[in-house]
Amino acid sequence: MQSLQFYRKAFTAQRPEGRLTTHSERYALAALLSPLRLPLPWIFSLFGTDKQREGGHSYAAAYTDAFGPLRSKRIKLLEIGLLKGASLLGWRAYFPRASIAGIDIMPKPEMTRGRVRVYQGDQGSAADLDHVCANEAPFDIIIDDGSHFNRHQLFSFYRLFPHLKDGGIYVIEDVQTSYWRGPVRGADYDWDGYDPFEPEFKDTCVGQFLELAKYLNHAEFLSTERVDPGHASLAKQIRRIAFEHNLIFVWKGPNVEVSNWLATAVQ
Ligand SMILES: C[S@@+](CC[C@H](N)C(=O)[O-])C[C@H]1O[C@@H](n2cnc3c(N)ncnc32)[C@H](O)[C@@H]1O
Repeated sequence: MQSLQFYRKAFTAQRPEGRLTTHSERYALAALLSPLRLPLPWIFSLFGTDKQREGGHSYAAAYTDAFGPLRSKRIKLLEIGLLKGASLLGWRAYFPRASIAGIDIMPKPEMTRGRVRVYQGDQGSAADLDHVCANEAPFDIIIDDGSHFNRHQLFSFYRLFPHLKDGGIYVIEDVQTSYWRGPVRGADYDWDGYDPFEPEFKDTCVGQFLELAKYLNHAEFLSTERVDPGHASLAKQIRRIAFEHNLIFVWKGPNVEVSNWLATAVQ
C-alpha cells in the first residue's frame, strides 16, 4: 500500500488542488499506468470507483480472479453505468490492450477518449443497447453497473448476452437489489426486488440466475415436462455461473455435454 501512496503523490502533487481535475488528465494517468500491471485494488482505489472501498463494495478480488487471464489480451469491454468515469479509467489502466465502450443514461461526451468510447442511452431500451452493439459488439466482457433495478439487469442481460463472445464474461453488480423492495432513498420510485422467501423472488435478478444455474445440468433432466425452453436453450451457451456477495458472473461457452445417466447405470 506504500507504493500506492507513492503513485498518488507522484501524480497528484502537480496541481494546487492536489488532484487531477479533468477527465483527460485522469485518462492520461490511466494510459500511463496501463503497462505497469498494477494490482486491481490499487487501480480501483486510485481512480476512486466504489467497486473497492472501505465500507462499500469489495469486488476487486472477484474481478482479479475472473479477468486476470484476459489482462494481456486485445479484448473488447462494455460497461453500463459510468458516473464520473472512475471504473472506465480503471479498466483502461488494468487492460493495456483493451478497447472499451461505456453506456450511461446521462450524457458524458468528455469520456470518449483514446481507447474508450462512450454512448448515451438507457439500459432498459432495446434501441439504445442495439445501437451500442451495432458499433462495438462482439464483447469479451460486459459489466452492468447501471440502475441496479432488477428489470434493467435482466433486460440488459437478455439483450446483450447474444453479443458476448464464446469464452466471454458477463458481470452484474449490486444484485443486493434483488432482495430490496420499497422506496429508493431520496427518490419517488421503488426498488423492484422481493423477500427471498416469497415465490415472487424467482422473478428477481438473483432468482432468475439461481433458476438458470439449475439448467446448467439440463442434460440430466429426466423429464422435459416442466422445462422452460428459453432457460434450456440459454443454458446450452453458459459454462459457469458464479455468485459472490452482491455480484453475479456468467461465463459464456458451449454447455452441450451429454447425460451421465447411462455411464453411471449399474452394469
Ligand atoms: C453506480 S453508478 C456507476 C459507477 C461506475 N461504474 C464506477 O464504478 O465508477 C451508476 C450509473 O448508472 C447510470 N444509470 C442509471 N440508470 C441507467 C439506465 N437506465 N441506463 C444506463 N445508465 C443508467 C447513472 O447515470 C450512473 O452514472
